[in-house]
Amino acid sequence: MGVWIAGVPAGGRAARPMVAGDAPSPRASNVRLVKYLAHAGIASRRSAELMIAAGRVTVEGELVTDPARDVGSGSAVEVDGRRLTGPEPRVVLALNKPVGVVSTARDTHGRQTVLALVPCEGLRLYPVGRLDIDTSGLILLTNDGELANRLTHPRFEVPKTYRARLGGGRIGEDALRALRAGVELDDGRTAPARVRRVGAQEIELTIHEGRNRQVRRMCQAIGHPVLELVRTRFGPLTLGDLAPGANRALAADEIERLRALSL
Ligand code: URA
Repeated sequence: MGVWIAGVPAGGRAARPMVAGDAPSPRASNVRLVKYLAHAGIASRRSAELMIAAGRVTVEGELVTDPARDVGSGSAVEVDGRRLTGPEPRVVLALNKPVGVVSTARDTHGRQTVLALVPCEGLRLYPVGRLDIDTSGLILLTNDGELANRLTHPRFEVPKTYRARLGGGRIGEDALRALRAGVELDDGRTAPARVRRVGAQEIELTIHEGRNRQVRRMCQAIGHPVLELVRTRFGPLTLGDLAPGANRALAADEIERLRALSL
């Protein structure tokens, strides 16, 4: 399917020379340099900060190391000597990641990445958070570095729901209670989770933390190793009937609901 583009004007206003008497609206369209880079799809906000600190960014030919420097839509911003063309249209895709695909943008071992499964059409897309290679389900991809950053920041506690098929025999009430209360892991106790049984050996679990292999480690800790794991919800979005490997572009109202989560 093609890429749906949220209603952002592609080139902004048509350029016209400033004339005497034009009402100045200083800073009206200015943004901080770090935000400008993130919106240009160059990098996540964090990577943009590092690029600026490393002295790779110039504005109007001047080296700038202050991420808060004001930049206007017409500013000449260069990264490593290459002029940026301005913000890309904002895109958010939902993908049903199949097992065996890595959720990083690049893989040093040559494995298939989530980016290979979606139409990029020249856009610099980034996965929003991670799913293990052996986990399938809903993952978002966007060129909006700032949105990606916020949705994965622990402060916003975005809830994520998983279906897990577990080994270790029938799941008892005490196991469910332990998951709900929080489980002691080697990186600390997990926050309370919403958990319900959906079969003798299957549960649905909602957490808002994003620790490495968290669901697998929680279930292992209570004696029920994960045999199969699927993410079915991310914040307000559901996997629905998206087939493994398929993607869809989010509608404008879905993107708005995601943004509202991180305000
Ligand atoms: N928890 C896990 O254990 N794996 C995932 O991929 C996501 C959450």
